[in-house]
Amino acid sequence: MEDEKPKKKVTFYLLYCVSTAVIGSLQFGYNTGVINAPEQKLRRFFQNVSMERYGEPFSPGTNTMVWSIAVAIFSIGGMVGSFSVGAMVNKFGRRKSMMLANILAVIGGGFMGLSILTKSFEIVIVGRLIIGVFCGLCTGLTPMYVGEISPTALRGAFGTLHQLGVVIGILVAQIFGLEFLLGSDTLWPLLLALTILPAILQSIMLPFCPESPRYLLIVLNQEEEARKALVRLRGCEDVSDDIEEMKEEGMKMALEKKVTIPELFRSPNYRQPIIIAIVLQLSQQLSGINAVFYYSTGIFDTAGVTQPIYATIGAGVVNTVFTVVSLFLVERAGRRTLHLIGLAGMAICALLMTISLSLVNTNQSLSYLAIVAVFGFVASFEMGPGPIPWFIVAELFSQGPRPAAMAVSGFSNWTANFLVGLGFPKLEELCGPYVFIIFMIFLILFFIFTFLRVPETRGRTFDDIAQGFSASDALQQLDTKTQVAACVVLLWH
Ligand code: GLC
Repeated sequence: MEDEKPKKKVTFYLLYCVSTAVIGSLQFGYNTGVINAPEQKLRRFFQNVSMERYGEPFSPGTNTMVWSIAVAIFSIGGMVGSFSVGAMVNKFGRRKSMMLANILAVIGGGFMGLSILTKSFEIVIVGRLIIGVFCGLCTGLTPMYVGEISPTALRGAFGTLHQLGVVIGILVAQIFGLEFLLGSDTLWPLLLALTILPAILQSIMLPFCPESPRYLLIVLNQEEEARKALVRLRGCEDVSDDIEEMKEEGMKMALEKKVTIPELFRSPNYRQPIIIAIVLQLSQQLSGINAVFYYSTGIFDTAGVTQPIYATIGAGVVNTVFTVVSLFLVERAGRRTLHLIGLAGMAICALLMTISLSLVNTNQSLSYLAIVAVFGFVASFEMGPGPIPWFIVAELFSQGPRPAAMAVSGFSNWTANFLVGLGFPKLEELCGPYVFIIFMIFLILFFIFTFLRVPETRGRTFDDIAQGFSASDALQQLDTKTQVAACVVLLWH
């Protein structure tokens, strides 16, 4: 019976809606990667502004400070944006929130684009801050909307599309940033302002997408509207399964109070999943991935690679290819397994990187090992730690606590991203070629945590996953003998 239903049917309309949403992911990736290439151009611009205003250039220290602020303020904006996701979706819904976020992209992009004209470096910084807030919103809104409109059997594969959007955005930024394209002395403001175009495109496409049916039914209680949206998304008249599932989830939600952020930590039902969500987000950032994405050219240089910029673009390509691999594996191998494989692979590659970086002076051919290790590191990341944390949070929580959970976990991700971005150069100075050992230790700890704590969510309904946590929580309150007996009963069923 079960198999007869077209549970995996992918309609053109569903693809249209998912593609519209992942424009937000593309924006996050683009703005993450775009600042790398034009570094020298921006620094020169800051000097010119200082010359015009004060009659002398900034000291090297001040210039570096202005530059670091322009880079880091993006993550601060990201923290603010990701934290606002919960309040925003509760007030405006998913679709309107994405629409509103685009206003920020146009303002932020506009500011950065006008920097040369207005002869102001402050405007670049303000622009980066606004774009950061926008990207923070995108990292919550996109996975939430995509998770809520996808059929259960394909939630992981569609969820991975968010990460695919991110990595393509990074790659496009790396390529557009080449000197002979938009990375030149005169065109870099255009490179930074380009983010306006996808924002306009998404604003044109969004009105043709439905509001999330889960939001319509569970939050607004508009069953007819939800049904209409589902009929179009699923491409069949009989959407009773989906409606039933949502109603059940809604009924349970009605029994609970509205879930606030402190409640996520207080209530025994949510404590375990919120800890898992936070640790998974930390595992993504403290794996050291952005040490590679922000500073790979320098790393390759230290490893004696002769054309480091091409090795960097190579890493971007490997990154994209392996996200596609993960896309096809995630509904077969499962989230937990892929996350474990990814973390283990990254730990091994971190070790190889350390060996090659520390011994490259004695043996030049070890620079090839460094390239292989970095590529392996990035490939392993995209198998699990890249895509999974972004979408698994939407899976671990039912409709009520989901917005608050997305806000908390997104905020953790952006904070860790900020710390790695800011701290890595200093750590490298302190630890030299051994710096990746730190990430290796983190990776091992995250592996152990995932092995012991993270449940498999593949193919399960949101409600079933939430129930699993309540059951396991109840189990933990029992003594050992009763726990064993309860497990036997559960298995029996
Ligand atoms: C993930 C991370 C992001 C990183 C990217 C690399 O989306 O959140 O910080 O830059 O992967 O592919």
